[in-house]
Amino acid sequence: MLDFKDKVVAVIGGASGLGKGMILRMAKGGAKFAIADRHGSNLAQFADQLRADGAEVFTKCLDARNDGDVMEFADATFAKYGGVDYYIYTAGMSSMGSIFRLPLSEWRMLFEMNVMGQVHGIRAFIPRMIEQNRECYVINTASNAGLETNAYLPAYFMSKHAAVSLSESLTIELQAIGSKVKAYVFCPGLVQTPLSYNSAEMRVEDPYYTSDEYQKLTQLGKNALANGMTMDEAMDRFFQGLEADNFYIRTHDNEEEQVRYRTEMVLNRTRPLPIPMRAK
Ligand SMILES: NC(=O)c1ccc[n+]([C@@H]2O[C@H](COP(=O)([O-])OP(=O)(O)OC[C@H]3O[C@@H](n4cnc5c(N)ncnc54)[C@H](O)[C@@H]3O)[C@@H](O)[C@H]2O)c1
Repeated sequence: MLDFKDKVVAVIGGASGLGKGMILRMAKGGAKFAIADRHGSNLAQFADQLRADGAEVFTKCLDARNDGDVMEFADATFAKYGGVDYYIYTAGMSSMGSIFRLPLSEWRMLFEMNVMGQVHGIRAFIPRMIEQNRECYVINTASNAGLETNAYLPAYFMSKHAAVSLSESLTIELQAIGSKVKAYVFCPGLVQTPLSYNSAEMRVEDPYYTSDEYQKLTQLGKNALANGMTMDEAMDRFFQGLEADNFYIRTHDNEEEQVRYRTEMVLNRTRPLPIPMRAK
C-alpha cells in the first residue's frame, strides 16, 4: 500500500486537471507539496485550499518551457524539504488541426510544453533524486495519444509519442545505472478537465484559429473531453496503476484496441487508417 504520510511531492502543472486530482488524493494521505504552474491565480487559490485542509505547500509560478525556471523550482524544493519522494510532470496542452494548416508556432509550442518541459524537469530533479539513494518516484504525464495515432491532432500525437519515448529512455537508463528512482509514464485516455480552455490561453494569434475547420475540430475536442472519464475514476485508475508498479499507467480499457491496432500495423508493415474519436 502506497504511504504518502510526510512524503514530499513536487508537481509541475499541478494547479488544474490531472495534477490537481493527484495532489488532492496525496494530500488526504498526509503528503507535503511543492507545486509549480504557469497559471498564477489558479495556483494561489489551490495552495490556499490545501493549506486550509492542513497540508504544507510551497508554490512557484513558472513556465516549464524555461529550463532556468524549472531548475530554480527544483533548487527551492530541495532547499525547503531536503529531498523529493515523488516528482510529477502534468503540465501540457492539447491541439487540434490539419497537418497542412496548423500554424508552425503551435507545433513548436506543443513540442516545448509537452516534451521539452519534461526534459527540463528530468534534468533539474532526477540527478538529485538518484543521489538520495532511496526508493522514490518520477511520473511524467504523456497520453494514450502517445501509444496510438489518428488524424487532426498531429502536433499533439507527435509530442505525446516523444513524451512516451522520453520516459522509456529514462526508465531504461535508471535501471542501467542501478538507481532506486522508479520512473512511470502516465497515459490517460479522455478525462474531464479544462485542458482545451487552458490550452486556448496559450495560443498566439493566427488566421487559422478563426477558420471553420479549426473551430469545428476544436469543438469536437471540447465535446470529447466533456464526455470523458470523471476525475475520480481516472484517479482510481492512476493510483491503482502506480500501486501495481505499471510503467505505462493507463486509465481506459476501451483504448486497448487502439494501441493493439497501431502495434499490429507496425508489425504487419501496414498503412494505418483513420479511427473514430472515442469519449470513454
Ligand atoms: N484531460 C485529458 O483527457 C488528458 C488525456 C490524456 C493526456 N492528458 C495530458 O495530461 C496533462 C495535463 O492535462 P489536464 O487535462 O490536466 O489539463 P489542465 O489544463 O487542466 O492542466 C494542465 C496544467 O498545466 C499548466 N501548464 C500548462 N503549460 C504549462 C507550462 N508551460 N508551464 C507550467 N505550467 C503549465 C496549466 O496552467 C494547467 O494548470 C497534459 O499534458 C495533457 O496533454 C490529458
